[in-house]
Amino acid sequence: MTEIITHPLAVNGKDPRNLRGDPITQERYYSRDWMEREWDHLWTRIWHIAGRENELPEPGDYIVHDFMHESVIIARQPDGSLKGFYNACGHRAQKLVRGNGSQDSWTCAYHGWVWGLDGSLLDACDRDDFPQGDPVGKVRLIEVRVDTWGGFVWYTMDNEAPPLLKYLEPIPDIHRNFPLEKLVRILRVRVELNCNWKFSTDNFNESYHTRTAHPQVPPIIDQDHFTSRYEMFPNGHARIIQMGRPSLRDRLPEGVPHPFDDQLRAWDIDPARYATFEEKVMRGWHDLKEAKRKLGPERGYGHFAQLTDEEMTESPFGVVFPNIAFGANAEGMGFFRWEPHPDDPEKCFFDLWEFAYPAKNSYRGRLTQTTLEMKEAELDFRVYTGPEAVADLSDRVVFQDWGLSPGQQAGWRSRGYQEPYLAAQETRVRRFHEVLHDYLAGKPPGR
Ligand code: FES
Ligand SMILES: [Fe+2]
Repeated sequence: MTEIITHPLAVNGKDPRNLRGDPITQERYYSRDWMEREWDHLWTRIWHIAGRENELPEPGDYIVHDFMHESVIIARQPDGSLKGFYNACGHRAQKLVRGNGSQDSWTCAYHGWVWGLDGSLLDACDRDDFPQGDPVGKVRLIEVRVDTWGGFVWYTMDNEAPPLLKYLEPIPDIHRNFPLEKLVRILRVRVELNCNWKFSTDNFNESYHTRTAHPQVPPIIDQDHFTSRYEMFPNGHARIIQMGRPSLRDRLPEGVPHPFDDQLRAWDIDPARYATFEEKVMRGWHDLKEAKRKLGPERGYGHFAQLTDEEMTESPFGVVFPNIAFGANAEGMGFFRWEPHPDDPEKCFFDLWEFAYPAKNSYRGRLTQTTLEMKEAELDFRVYTGPEAVADLSDRVVFQDWGLSPGQQAGWRSRGYQEPYLAAQETRVRRFHEVLHDYLAGKPPGR
């Protein structure tokens, strides 16, 4: 393994000596007590994504994020800034708005109080009937802190939380060459799964499962643990960098067309120019970087000029603690977010968002090998009852992970559960639980 650490905050995410060794007990995956402690100490203290900035471009545009039993409104102000509020009327707490929209003010459906975009009360019925004084000019909606990064709108319910960029550190810094705010969300699927939300954090924090669960990937991305780079950061975030070339360990049978050949051809490289498979993989991988650097700008990828060689072809996968994973590559970004169910610790919601830079009219995902139209996608919500519920997504790699989720939940409830026996390349799994333990103990990192 190459011992390159790209950021001063990174420690080797494949070295268990960077762990305390906290046990990963099983009840965290099904107990209501854990679910409530996570609400009190984790979800109310982290930064959440409410949506994309381009969902609320004009003053008066607002978006709503429902999370467990909470709901938050974020509104674009007349001066272009964003403000966020709990979605509860300041009179007697009726939910103020039901979904995204655009208005100059919000009128509560219960007693008609009228709220301004800045959270102030503009009008109320019978203003002279309040012995404690006219509520107008006095009562306000309760605010949450809002900020933006990567084209996403974030908020936190914790007034003591570090500023967003500090909380995300060093994720913004290591993605500084990517104009993420220009990305178009061309796939927007939300699936209700029958497993605890931590299934996905565990799953995205290791690529040990990929050779078994996603056998179609190694011919496209080298997932070998000895060629990948593993990083862990102080606030609980982590990253893996895998080489954007086929693994030399996995050969397709003679005569089967190789997907890497298509990637080379897409950048005007003739795969026949290489004498052996090894040469094609290693030489072709370098040629691909060069070809993309040369042809990228004329093909609409202006930002290629500022990408490093690594960023040009490699497959990075960042996990933002505790419930986001994303891979920002040169042409687009796969983005995943998972959230707990409000009442059932054995259910969760999984968001599968795919993004592309608007360089052409369609986008062919590197992993999915399918083509999507270059336009903002509508929300597509499914309940995962089995593979048939998401059959049309079967070429998206996470489809295979969803198939494993009920079996994982069953194992977590079993009397046969044992302390996980982790490979070095699964170090980030235990690290996630250690940071989770710190949150639950009231001591989030950096606070
Ligand atoms: S609860 Fe909103 S006006 Fe009464
Ligand atoms: Fe997976």
